[in-house]
Amino acid sequence: MPVSEQNQFRLAIEAAPAGMLMVDHAGKIVLVNAQVEKLFGYRRDELIGQPIEMLVPERFRANHPASRGGLANATRARPMGAGRELFGLRADGSEVPVEIGLSPLKTDEGDFILSSIVDVTERRRAAMERERLLGELRSLNAELEQRVRARTSELTSALEEREVLLQEIHHRVKNNLQVISSLINMQRRKLEAGPPRDALQECQLRVQAIALIHEKLYQSKNYARVAFPAYVRSLASSVFHATGVSPRAVQLEVEIDDLALAVDRAIPCGLVLSELISNALKHGFPDGRGGTIKVTLRKLDPGRVSLEVSDDGVGLPPHFDLERTSTLGLQLVRTLAEQLGAKMTVRGVGGASFELEFAVEE
Ligand SMILES: Nc1ncnc2c1ncn2[C@@H]1O[C@H](COP(=O)(O)OP(=O)(O)OP(=O)(O)O)[C@@H](O)[C@H]1O
Ligand SMILES: [Mg+2]
Repeated sequence: MPVSEQNQFRLAIEAAPAGMLMVDHAGKIVLVNAQVEKLFGYRRDELIGQPIEMLVPERFRANHPASRGGLANATRARPMGAGRELFGLRADGSEVPVEIGLSPLKTDEGDFILSSIVDVTERRRAAMERERLLGELRSLNAELEQRVRARTSELTSALEEREVLLQEIHHRVKNNLQVISSLINMQRRKLEAGPPRDALQECQLRVQAIALIHEKLYQSKNYARVAFPAYVRSLASSVFHATGVSPRAVQLEVEIDDLALAVDRAIPCGLVLSELISNALKHGFPDGRGGTIKVTLRKLDPGRVSLEVSDDGVGLPPHFDLERTSTLGLQLVRTLAEQLGAKMTVRGVGGASFELEFAVEE
C-alpha cells in the first residue's frame, strides 16, 4: 500500500530528533511527536486538543505569542524569543530550558504553527561551567599579577639597596686609598731629593691611580664599569700634577672611544696608564723640552681594544729592551699586560710609544 502524503508527514515528524509540536490558529495542540512526550513528561493523548499554554511556565504566559494573537500573524519561519531564555513547563511542574523554532503552515484546513523544541539543559550547563571556569581563571590571573607586582617591587627595592651599598663601598675604598696616598706623601716629604724620594712618589701615584677608579665608579650610575674617557683625563691630570711638569710645556692629547671597562680590566689599565704617562713626563722631555703626550684607547674588532701612550720626546735609550728592564715601572707594565692578556708593541725612535692590544667584555 502506498504511503499517503499525510502519513509521510507524520512519519517525518515522528522521526525528527527534536520535539515537534503543531498548534492550530487558536493555539490548541494538534500534533506532537515522541520527543515532545519525553521532553514534557505527558502522554500524547494528554496534550492533543489542549492549549499550548499548558507547556509554558506561568510567568511567561502573558507574553506568549499564542496569547497575543502572534500565531495568526506569523508568516515565516523564525526562532522564538530571540535573545531571551525560554523555558518549557513539564507535567511534574519542573521547568526545562529550551530553544524553539517556529514555522507557519498554511493548509486547506487552516493555518498552523509547527514548532521544533530542543532541550538545551546540557548546553546551558556547559555554558555556565565555562563562565565559572573563566571567572576562576580571571581571579587566578589577577592574583598572579598581584604577586608579580609585589615581587617586582621587593626586587626593585633590594636592587636599590644593593646599589647604595656598592656606592658606599667604592666611596670608602677610595677614601682609604686616599689616606694611604697621603701617608706615603708625608713620608716622601721627610726625605731629601733623590731616588728614595722619587720612589715614594711613584708609589703614591700608583695608589692614586687605583683610588681614582673607585672614585669614578661611585660617581657613575654603573657601579661595575668605569667610564674610561673621564677616568683617563683625571688620571693624566693627577700624574701631571705629581710630576710637576708644566702643562704648558708638555701638552696632553686624549682620544678615548666611549668605552666602559669592568673593574678587573679598569684597574690594570689604570696602573699601566699611570706608569706610561709618568715615564713620558719624567724621561721624554728633559731640560725644559716641550712636546705632546698622546693617550688613545680605540675599539678594534668587537671585544678588542688598543691602548696607546705615545710622546714626541727624546725617544727610548739605544739598546732599550723591554724584556730586560730591571726597573720597577716597566716591569709592572709587563706584568699588568700579561694580566690583561695583552699583546704589547714598543717603538722608541722619534719619541716613545707603548701600545697594548687586549680583549674586553662588551
Ligand atoms: N717615554 C719615555 N721616553 C724616554 N725614555 C723612556 C720613556 N719611558 C721609559 N723610558 C726609559 O725606560 C727606563 C725604564 O722605565 P721604568 O718606568 O721601568 O723605570 P723608571 O721610570 O726609571 O723608574 P720607576 O720604576 O720609578 O718607574 C727609564 O729609566 C727611561 O730611561
Ligand atoms: Mg717609570
